[in-house]
Amino acid sequence: MQTIISPSLLAADFMNLGSDIEMVNNSQADWFHLDIMDGVFVPNISYGLPVIEQINKIAKKPLDVHLMIVDPDRYIEAFKKAGADILTVHYEACTHLHRTIQNIHSHGMKAGVSLNPHTPISVLEEIITDIDVVLLMSVNPGFGGQSFIESTYNKVEKLAKLIKEKNTEVIIEIDGGVNLETGKKLIEAGADALVAGSFVFGAKDPNQTISDLKNL
Ligand code: DX5
Ligand code: ZN
Repeated sequence: MQTIISPSLLAADFMNLGSDIEMVNNSQADWFHLDIMDGVFVPNISYGLPVIEQINKIAKKPLDVHLMIVDPDRYIEAFKKAGADILTVHYEACTHLHRTIQNIHSHGMKAGVSLNPHTPISVLEEIITDIDVVLLMSVNPGFGGQSFIESTYNKVEKLAKLIKEKNTEVIIEIDGGVNLETGKKLIEAGADALVAGSFVFGAKDPNQTISDLKNL
């Protein structure tokens, strides 16, 4: 299977968001990665529902929405209405994670669970067969452009092993500090999907950079 590429619009040019979305539409990218931050779960605020609604009007690929917010259950229906196709919540933000996953599925979206760098893979043991995506953070969530945390490779291997043991199918997605070098090693470790923000939108030729990641 070819790697799924999900460019993060956090690093896009918000004065020219439309043209950056068209670039992704016309590229080899598979998804749009949208980072939602509330200034509480993470020390930064990004953008919210009205922006997603606008993105959804012209985006021709699934919206991969990464919620870095407390109490995500309050907003599941709203994100569905705004156009989310995949809704990922943080393990660390959900007291009743199983219920949250059921809620996401009942709204017809794919459900993802994200783990912060310090959270071990073992916490997924009882939920892995109920979810569609695991989003492993390879930086501390909150900002783009940070450097990759090396211990992520080992986590990817552990997660791939758990998925195999449980005889289930879950997409292993990695977020933070992805470039051609880290991306290659992540794929070797078992990653299925790569999020890339600054590496794509900071490149001279973002479209070509997406192809380069896709063809690693
Ligand atoms: C960080 C976000 C990432 C971010 C990645 O909290 O979840 O999606 O946009 O940015 P880069 O690729 O620049 O590390
Ligand atoms: Zn993200």
